[in-house]
Amino acid sequence: MLLSLFKTASAAAKSETRGHLCLNSLTRLYAGSRASGIEGISLECRQGEFVCVVGPSGCGKSTLLNLVAGMLKPDSGSVVLDGVEVRGPGPDRAVVFQDHGLFPWLTAAQNIAFGLKMAGVPRSEREERVQQALAMVHLESSANKLVHELSGGMKQRVAIARALVMDPAVLLMDEPFAALDAQTRTLLHQQLQDLWIKTRKTILFVTHSVGEAVRLADRIVVLHAHPGRIRRVVNIELAHPRNFDSRDITELVHLVRKEIEDEVNRINSEASEFWKPASAAGVDSDTFCLGDGI
Ligand SMILES: Nc1ncnc2c1ncn2[C@@H]1O[C@H](COP(=O)(O)OP(=O)(O)O)[C@@H](O)[C@H]1O
Ligand SMILES: [Mg+2]
Repeated sequence: MLLSLFKTASAAAKSETRGHLCLNSLTRLYAGSRASGIEGISLECRQGEFVCVVGPSGCGKSTLLNLVAGMLKPDSGSVVLDGVEVRGPGPDRAVVFQDHGLFPWLTAAQNIAFGLKMAGVPRSEREERVQQALAMVHLESSANKLVHELSGGMKQRVAIARALVMDPAVLLMDEPFAALDAQTRTLLHQQLQDLWIKTRKTILFVTHSVGEAVRLADRIVVLHAHPGRIRRVVNIELAHPRNFDSRDITELVHLVRKEIEDEVNRINSEASEFWKPASAAGVDSDTFCLGDGI
């Protein structure tokens, strides 16, 4: 039977019961440095919640996401999804990275179908699910294009479709739009917001862009750096779909950005000679992104 991948918003809200994610005192420090990695992170994501993790470069966002994906093992603590401890990668967690990671010798449709094929899904069901996935990211007319024929934004949309077509309980996204221009990013924010409203997947989204987080998230987790710990959790109590140009969004962006600037200043004041981060003045106030230097 065809898995109910794409439901109407109300049907999805009623029937999706998966996606309750718990991070329990999660610690992963890298050898040779006690300050790299993450330490003691506890976080619970409700089913269907959109949670963004923000923080400066190097604060441990990807480490956190890779632990949830099962690609890294924790030193201590655990990740529990729907009552089952994560012990490695699995189809219940799909990941979208900044680098789309598509196979260049396959078309958009074939890339989306790849995981289904590996999972032994019969051809007719595969084709139907791929068509639905393409429609969700508005790429029906590009189904037969090769990767080099797609724009950067289209490639990321194929990557999102490839993740969603597997019907994961949780969608994990690691700076998926960071390499795109501002206009394309805004378009993809709108599309991701629509997708999330339709599917009600739990999404854990990592970004260094405060603006992106405020646009998309129900809850923003701001990380401390070195080692990564939770500094503050901000609830974004604005209804979806959001108007990204609203004053509420702008005000919240300033609030969360201030948190991170404070963190950059704290790191600066504690930095040793061999590790000197850039100053908070490097924070880009136009795009609400953090500088690269920390
Ligand atoms: N495999 C690794 N070995 C050693 N240190 C690492 C490794 N991966 C990441 N780190 C260090 O851990 C910290 C957090 O990295 P990362 O999770 O990639 O941060 P972010 O995604 O927030 O930029 C950084 O200081 C980074 O240099
Ligand atoms: Mg990263």
